[in-house]
Amino acid sequence: MRFIIMDTPKEIGETIAKDFEELLKKKPDAIFGLATGSTPLPLYAALIEDYKAGKISFKDAKSFNLDEYVNAPKEEDTYRYFMKTNLFEHVDFKEGANHFPSFENMKTYDKSIDEAGGIDLQILGIGRDGHVGFNEPDTPFDSLTHLAELTENTREANARFFKGGEETPHEAITMGLKTIYKARHIILIASDLTKVDAIRSLKKGVKDLAWPCTSLLTHPNVDIYLTKELFAAI
Ligand code: PGA
Repeated sequence: MRFIIMDTPKEIGETIAKDFEELLKKKPDAIFGLATGSTPLPLYAALIEDYKAGKISFKDAKSFNLDEYVNAPKEEDTYRYFMKTNLFEHVDFKEGANHFPSFENMKTYDKSIDEAGGIDLQILGIGRDGHVGFNEPDTPFDSLTHLAELTENTREANARFFKGGEETPHEAITMGLKTIYKARHIILIASDLTKVDAIRSLKKGVKDLAWPCTSLLTHPNVDIYLTKELFAAI
């Protein structure tokens, strides 16, 4: 596990966009695991810039998103909509190349990823409680894609995205910790101070079910990008 410290979230986004560029050069039909939330937004902005500048193309690539709400109040609240507006409609993925877990496909989502060739590069944010995807504390490390109940902590953190926090969904479908672990390269980004305890659990280096992110500790190819402000607070 490598810790990479940068000045700003923008710099982190631009640096990771270079990993996308390199991978797409070597493997135009790469498979990406993508995340939602505030954290990856600078990365998606950098990817859109790079696409517009002709540096990258997603025309032969595929993506599998980490998670999706169950019963989001409105279409605009879904992660599919988030990805459409923040990345997909600005770049050139082919129709049908972007996949999301759902109630209907959750039993076969891992198989679909495997059949596509497995995830080459998985992007992750992290919750204040150490969740990755919606794998909340005590999720088994060998979990595959499943239905997850959101903790109050997570619902509270995500309420800002919904009109009136009471509408924040209670459940989501998420890739499991094993689904994530199977990716060949994992990049986890943390850029705000609410993530200090979660990052501390990674620095401590002990696998602990109470901190789902620690399931990644034994993975051979994980990069953790942190802002210098967050690193200083650990
Ligand atoms: P955030 O969410 O990027 O909006 O902070 C990350 C997460 O909960 O995984």
